[in-house]
Amino acid sequence: MSKIGHVAIIMDGNGRWAQGRLRPRVWGHVRGAGVVSEIVKVADDLGISALTLYAFSTENWSRPVEEVSLLFKLLKKFLLKERVRILSNNIKFKVIGELNGLPLETVDLIQKMEESTKHASGLKLTFAFNYGARSEIVRAVNRFIDSNQGEHISEKDLDEHMYRPETGDIDLLIRTGGEQRISNFLLWQIAYSELYFTPTKWPDFTSQEFTKIIENVAGRERRFGAISNNASAKNKERKIGASSLLNSKR
Ligand code: IPE
Ligand code: IPE
Ligand code: MG
Repeated sequence: MSKIGHVAIIMDGNGRWAQGRLRPRVWGHVRGAGVVSEIVKVADDLGISALTLYAFSTENWSRPVEEVSLLFKLLKKFLLKERVRILSNNIKFKVIGELNGLPLETVDLIQKMEESTKHASGLKLTFAFNYGARSEIVRAVNRFIDSNQGEHISEKDLDEHMYRPETGDIDLLIRTGGEQRISNFLLWQIAYSELYFTPTKWPDFTSQEFTKIIENVAGRERRFGAISNNASAKNKERKIGASSLLNSKR
């Protein structure tokens, strides 16, 4: 449907959403988990090729232990609940991040889901869990060095040694919850991506708002450092060349 191929979302604002309703922060995570299922569905319906969701950062370990363990439980619950739908919708699932340190049972579920969807040709769905972009970059460099001692690394090499190279660069990064920052998400892959910050807190985010954002961003002109198509056509019409300007007296 759109030229937006890879969408990434920082699903933020769960804690504030709950606190605003005089509920414990974890309530926001529970409500937010339901929204994840809805957004996966609409992304698939819209024909987006890859959706990457930030679910737990390497820095989120510094939260209270009850909150951290609830987030782990919600991941497990999602995997169990959505398994059939993921398989029947031909979704290719992967978790990026450090799996060491997660409960063994969850790691096992993740690996089984990845294995059983590895030949799927539909939406590439990625959960960034226990994920930090800086550590992904360092890990990629070290993996490269391990097999290419003494060689210099290129941009292409670095791309290829990231967690999930086949999803490619991000076309659109959305952050809910009102903060305008990237935190530690996909720092390498967001060069030239469009950014969209919405004040909506994640538990209130809807498929309608998601669709509107996609439509809004699909209308933006991405220039990747070049000049706009319009300007370039006009220049050709007027035959303005850099050399003629440099040679002119004024
Ligand atoms: C995002 O919501 C979910 C995670 C970081 C796991 P937060 O829990 O950060 O919610 P706020 O930003 O404190 O409201
Ligand atoms: C980013 O949200 C991480 C996730 C949504 C998983 P945070 O709430 O952890 O980010 P900061 O601390 O506000 O930057
Ligand atoms: Mg937050």
